[in-house]
Amino acid sequence: MRGLAGSLRNPSGFGRGSIEGKTLSRGFPLKCMKNKLENLRKQILEELSKAKSGELLRELEIKYLGRKGELSNILRAVKDLSEKEKQEIGLLANTIKNDVSAKFYEIKKEVEGKEASTSFIDVTLPGKKIEQGHLNPISIIQAEMEDLFISMGFMVADGPELESDYYNFEALNIPKTHPARDMQDTFYIDKKNAAGEYDLLMRTHTSPVQVRAMQKYGAPLKVVVPGRCYRSEATDARHEHTLCQFEGLLIDKDINFSHLKGVLELVGKKLFGPETKLRMRPKFYPFVEPGTNGEYTCLLCKGKGCRLCKNSGWLEIAGAGLVHPDVLRAGGVDPEKYSGFAFGFGLSRLAQLKYGIDDARLAMSGDLRFLSQF
Ligand code: PHE
Repeated sequence: MRGLAGSLRNPSGFGRGSIEGKTLSRGFPLKCMKNKLENLRKQILEELSKAKSGELLRELEIKYLGRKGELSNILRAVKDLSEKEKQEIGLLANTIKNDVSAKFYEIKKEVEGKEASTSFIDVTLPGKKIEQGHLNPISIIQAEMEDLFISMGFMVADGPELESDYYNFEALNIPKTHPARDMQDTFYIDKKNAAGEYDLLMRTHTSPVQVRAMQKYGAPLKVVVPGRCYRSEATDARHEHTLCQFEGLLIDKDINFSHLKGVLELVGKKLFGPETKLRMRPKFYPFVEPGTNGEYTCLLCKGKGCRLCKNSGWLEIAGAGLVHPDVLRAGGVDPEKYSGFAFGFGLSRLAQLKYGIDDARLAMSGDLRFLSQF
């Protein structure tokens, strides 16, 4: 086959680019060329009759009939012939192309029909496994927490991760000079805000959404805010620069500490089981008064003391307290009329505790070996 194609192109010059009407007119034996075309026809038909599979047919189609196939090459060269030769050779080449194409499709139909009737599906063969994605353990806990709070009538809100110094600190009673800023170092953004000040930073907690939500929805209000936060940490197994928190805020008339305690107790029981106890110890956060640490009986030792809880029997899990009057005011809520509580869970830490993840960096690593375990 190749040989024939080769001889057509070379040395007779019957190939793309090399053929010149001049050469042919000067005595290229028209008859010889016709013979070659006829031979090509014969050869193609012969090969076609032997082609028994769809795959082979496709190969032949490309080789002979395709855009770069041998017949097309010849047809392309016809334009360089003299008028008379053009007519004669062109006509012949076209007839051959049509004949061969017709035969080709006839055989193709036959082969395809046969293949369809002989192929069958072996249902006993092992199937192809469809890879499924996995939820990150943090997302699992987040969904659980959202469900719990939605069932108690809370709305789920969102806030910007790129936050202003005002919402992240100032509105939460943490002025520029306050030492509480040291505990939450973050990534500052070297772009000025609309007022021309360097005021943007990656939020260090979800608490700024407390003020944003009060400004937007007013009081009374029940809202939870899951979201990413950032701290400028030297990362190790216990510290990660990106962490997830779960904020809660409830504002209404006559809200007191017992309401907060009731809700935190419920969360503990839901997450770690009905035996879980809550302990609240005083802790300072500038945006609550009084402030507290929510601690639950250790989920591993159930309070007896183990490595996880550093033998204390308790795990520190949430920061919480009654919303400071200054923060209510920043949110446009009158502290004489309303009071409220707020809490912030470390979702990342919750996921670590619940699933026994011993390295804080894994949750954000995108490592499938890790993720596929959940
Ligand atoms: N925002 C605090 C933190 O990131 C947690 C907190 C939230 C404390 C709400 C009190 C009230 O540490």
